[in-house]
Amino acid sequence: MQQNPIDMSHLEALLDFYSSAGVDCFMGDKPLDWYELTNKQAEQFRQKKTVAGPPSVAPTLVAPERPRDARPAQPPASPAAPAATRGEQPSAVLPDAQIIAAARDIAASATSLEELRACLEAFDGCNLKLTAKTLVFADGHPEARLMFVGEAPGRDEDLQGKPFVGRSGQLLDRMLDAIGMERSSTYIANVVPWRPPGNRTPTPQETEICKPFIKRQIELVNPDVLVFLGAASAKTLLGVQEGIRKMRGRWMAYPGSGKEIAAIATYHPAYLLRSPLEKRLSWRDFLAISQSLKK
Ligand code: URA
Repeated sequence: MQQNPIDMSHLEALLDFYSSAGVDCFMGDKPLDWYELTNKQAEQFRQKKTVAGPPSVAPTLVAPERPRDARPAQPPASPAAPAATRGEQPSAVLPDAQIIAAARDIAASATSLEELRACLEAFDGCNLKLTAKTLVFADGHPEARLMFVGEAPGRDEDLQGKPFVGRSGQLLDRMLDAIGMERSSTYIANVVPWRPPGNRTPTPQETEICKPFIKRQIELVNPDVLVFLGAASAKTLLGVQEGIRKMRGRWMAYPGSGKEIAAIATYHPAYLLRSPLEKRLSWRDFLAISQSLKK
């Protein structure tokens, strides 16, 4: 049988299509629907079955059972790799509620940002860790008065291990520059510290699992002003349901440790890159942020 010669231009077009769609790493021979897998696993758990596979995506939990007031989980001697990536069978599949409860205990046990980072490095309760290259914990000054919280890292952030370093991060730097500030005097983090594959939106389960860690991070930084970049982080941390157009620019109170933190949501820089006309409203928000820091 005669084989068709490979048409390189078709291959290039296909690769180009994948890369435009956000596919930038090779995972396996068969495509996986991550939402579908999560649902299937939840269903299997509901039926009280032990979930055997697929090993590369089954969530594992290495959460020490400790009372709430016990001292922090000790970071492992070497950074913990998820069980699945160490080639072991995942230990058990726990329902999200248990993973979230464990995440809460682990996050609460951290008494410093360094401990919190170590806890996250050792935490295997979030599937995103399996596909991300690095933990994107934070950038900036740990005692900053101004803290930004985004949604989740993208490709550049995953490669560099720092939040907001890609195109939207560069725009954020320019916006800070416009109010006479530098990123190094602020603290920047995300609700979800691992890049979702293909930059997809984190699932509600992933967000809930990561939420205790960002809440603890905010407590430990204890800023005077908290800025949510985009609706997702504001909705997660303030529980507000409005869209960003309605909620942006309005001061709200975030319950900090021993004080109320002045919080405001503004457009995500990635949105501003797509809708540059909205920059005038962000400019207003940044002026308000700058004024509030002068108090
Ligand atoms: N978008 C985010 O929400 N966070 C980042 O770190 C980068 C882009």
